[in-house]
Amino acid sequence: MLPNTKNNIFSVEQVRKDFPILQRSIHSKALVYFDNGATTQKPQQVIDTLTQYYSFQNANIHRGVHSLSQEITTLYEAARVQVQKHLNAAHAHEIIFTQGTTDSINLVAYSYGKKYIKSGDEIMITTMEHHSNIIPWQQVCEDRGAVLKVIPVNAIGELDLEAFEQLLSQKTKIIAVTHVSNTLGTINPIKYIIEKAHQNNIPVLVDGAQATPHLKVDVADLNADFYCFSSHKMYGPTGVGILYGKEKWLEEMPPYQTGGGVIETVSFERTKFASLPLKFEAGTPHIAGGIGTATAIDYLNNLGMDAVARYENELLQYATIQLLAIEGVKIIGTASKKASVISFVVNGLHPYDIGMILDQQGVAVRTGHHCTQPLLEYFKVPGTVRVSFSFYNTKAEIDIFVLALNKALKMLL
Ligand code: ALA
Repeated sequence: MLPNTKNNIFSVEQVRKDFPILQRSIHSKALVYFDNGATTQKPQQVIDTLTQYYSFQNANIHRGVHSLSQEITTLYEAARVQVQKHLNAAHAHEIIFTQGTTDSINLVAYSYGKKYIKSGDEIMITTMEHHSNIIPWQQVCEDRGAVLKVIPVNAIGELDLEAFEQLLSQKTKIIAVTHVSNTLGTINPIKYIIEKAHQNNIPVLVDGAQATPHLKVDVADLNADFYCFSSHKMYGPTGVGILYGKEKWLEEMPPYQTGGGVIETVSFERTKFASLPLKFEAGTPHIAGGIGTATAIDYLNNLGMDAVARYENELLQYATIQLLAIEGVKIIGTASKKASVISFVVNGLHPYDIGMILDQQGVAVRTGHHCTQPLLEYFKVPGTVRVSFSFYNTKAEIDIFVLALNKALKMLL
């Protein structure tokens, strides 16, 4: 990948060469991959990191005196530091490797819930949460006798901040909110929400799964208590997630899963747990995935997150204008601040039918409820077609998608 220094922006043509899958054809048509919200494609650099690990570096970490084990432990811990720097976290031990965003949220819900949530307490989420940031909290409420409170959204898909402030109370023990909606693309005013919450001594967990691929995230500036995301949505491998947590919380919270790796000493009478971050990392982790995540972060930083955000915003604006020009298309989620995600419906057509015809023309989109059923219930639609763009997508691809969509609508209407 060669940066185009003249415009201080990367060359998309060059960037595309880093992603082998973009050369593929689907149904004899060049692949147009617009399902980046589900998972992003992987650059050759990340693929090479995984191949290198399994070919020449494979050993377990934190468990051996032999050279291979020492070597890979050093690389794995360097990956942790890489994530710490990327997020601007104060300490490397505030970075916990997990299996994904879902796992990170479950960890906090279980562990924070066990320590701090009591009967009658309240947990606050929002209408636009992914099921992964709803169900773990529902489970805590059920277990602890707590109550789930939900910040509503308005008609354009922004959080109702007045309602949020009215919902805050002495009983609120944690707020869990998405940074960017996977369905609507709305970028939420996380910093403001955290400020208000902290004025009331309430910690905030941010689901950053859809934010980290698109935006520069600085957990110190946000002052987030917990920040969760997945590597595979930001050009890294599947099966790896990050939980950033402030030291003061992680120190106090009990382990989530237990077993090898999380201990200092074990006897049949008692176990003394290891200090951070190992206390939360039971079992052999996804080692290749951890170091692959560091490569993905390097890749993004070479492009520059500001340049990524600028370019993706251009794609968002371009596609929005094109879609709105098609009769019958209704965009669900028109917030003033959006990441490069567009959900839409067309005249009562089933999103699945549209998705199938688009696929026949090589265009990959996501259809359905996007694991946000309560949100779609609010918008009174059973599902949407969702396109989500990456820095490797182009306006020419949007043109192909629009042609394909028009063709689909001709067939279906
Ligand atoms: N949560 C992912 C999505 O929005 C899978 O597609």
